This record gives sequence, structure tokens and C-alpha cells, in this order.
Amino acid sequence: MTTDASGLFTPLTLRNLTVPNRFAMAPMTRQASPGGIPGPDVAEYYARRAAGGVGLIITEGVRLGDLSAAGSLDIPTLVGAEALDGWRKVTSAVHRHGATIAAQLWHQGAERGDRDGVAPVSPSGVNGKGESIGRALAADELPAVAQWFAEAARNAKEVGFDAVELHGAHGYLLDQFLWTRTNLRTDEYGGSVENRTRFPAEVVTAVRAAVGPDFPIIYRFSQWKGTDYAATLAGDPVELQELL
Ligand SMILES: Cc1cc2nc3c(=O)[nH]c(=O)nc-3n(C[C@H](O)[C@H](O)[C@H](O)COP(=O)(O)O)c2cc1C
Repeated sequence: MTTDASGLFTPLTLRNLTVPNRFAMAPMTRQASPGGIPGPDVAEYYARRAAGGVGLIITEGVRLGDLSAAGSLDIPTLVGAEALDGWRKVTSAVHRHGATIAAQLWHQGAERGDRDGVAPVSPSGVNGKGESIGRALAADELPAVAQWFAEAARNAKEVGFDAVELHGAHGYLLDQFLWTRTNLRTDEYGGSVENRTRFPAEVVTAVRAAVGPDFPIIYRFSQWKGTDYAATLAGDPVELQELL
């Protein structure tokens, strides 16, 4: 018996992105961009993966333009002329090999830890283990946070990325809004599924407005939790469907 794998080598079109095959590289944090600026070695790293034949590369998590977004300044950013020049070299190197590339946009929320006198921010000031950390975001601060995602997405499109991926998984900021253990809010951003999804949906709306109708937005989501293997976001398939 043989298995027909030829479908893996067929293109996939999503809005104005055509991925040449069905192989994607998962995002993997490297912390190899001092000061947030991806250097020539970063372009070479991604070009080697593109040369290997992968159709879509999803970059390592890229920290948003605010210091609260990530714990290490060696995580690349998509804000500022130098970082944008670095990414232009990355995207053109990947495109030279016929591959496509999406930037993963990342805010760690309560998983960031304290640094440089800037407290971590999150829905309720608790992390995935239920420990108090940093401070809860006020509702009137949320539009600015959504705009940090939008700014990074707009810049990603400008420097030649083919798509963006919102890091909505693994217990980071967007996931913290979805999970009842990290979202203890009693305002319109907490409680019901509709309320817990409100801020992530507002982020998607802000990013869509920034990149226009044809640019693909990927949303990474995780039902399962790295900090507690028994925990899930949704209790059953119906709730999961509602959430998604
Ligand atoms: C070194 C390393 C760094 C990672 N960094 C990220 C990241 O920045 N963003 C993300 O969404 N997932 C990240 N992941 C998770 C991977 O994308 C992937 O989901 C995980 O490795 C499971 O896939 P695998 O079983 O093929 O390894 C990382 C994984 C590894 C091993």
C-alpha cells in the first residue's frame, strides 16, 4: 500500500498569500536580535530554512513596541528604522528562495516578569499559576495595547512580510484574556465567553484595519495550557466553538 502525499506539494492560497506547498515552520523564539534589531545572521538563518523548501515560515515571536511586551531586549521588534531595515533583509532573503514568511506578534502579558522598573501588565495581574504579578490593565488602556499590535502588523506588511500571526496561545496576553484562571475581571472584558473574547477580537479588528482586507491574519490559539497540563480554555466542544 502506498500513501499519496502529493497534496503536500500543492500551493495554498489565502487572501493575497499563495504558499507554494503545505510545509510550515513553527515560530521559535531565538533572542538573537540585540536591542530588538534582526541582523544579517537572522536573515541568513531564515534564508537557510527557506532554501530547505518550507513553504511558509512563521517567525519567532516578535515583541510589540512597548517595553511591557517582552522580557528580553534580544527578542526582535518591528518598530524603529533599524529593526525594519533588518526585517526587509529577512523577507527579501526568504522570498529569493520562493518561500513566504509571516511575522508572529507577541505580547507576553503576566508571563513577562518584572524588568527595568516596568511591571508586567495583564487582564487581572495574575499569571497562569494564579500568582499575583504586575498589574491589571484598566479598560481604557486596552485600545493602546491593540494599537501596538496594529502598529507592528502595519510595519510587517511594509517591510515585505506576507502575513502576520497573532500569538494568542501558550498563556501569553491574548490567551490570558480567554482563560478564566488568568482573567478574573468583572467588567465587559471578563466573565462570559463573549466578554473574555472581546479584547482578542478588538485586537484582530485593529490589526485588520491596519493591514487592509487582503492581507492574511493568522491567529495562534491553544486550548491546552503549558503551565497546567490538565487545564483547558473551553470545557466542551460547544464552548470551544463559541470561543473560536
Ligand atoms: C526553542 C523553541 C522556541 C519556541 N518559541 C515559540 C514562539 O516564539 N512562539 C510560538 O508560538 N511558539 C513557540 N514555540 C513552540 C513551537 O512553535 C511549537 O509549537 C512546539 O515546538 C511544538 O511543536 P513540535 O512538537 O514540532 O516541536 C517554541 C518552541 C521551541 C522548541
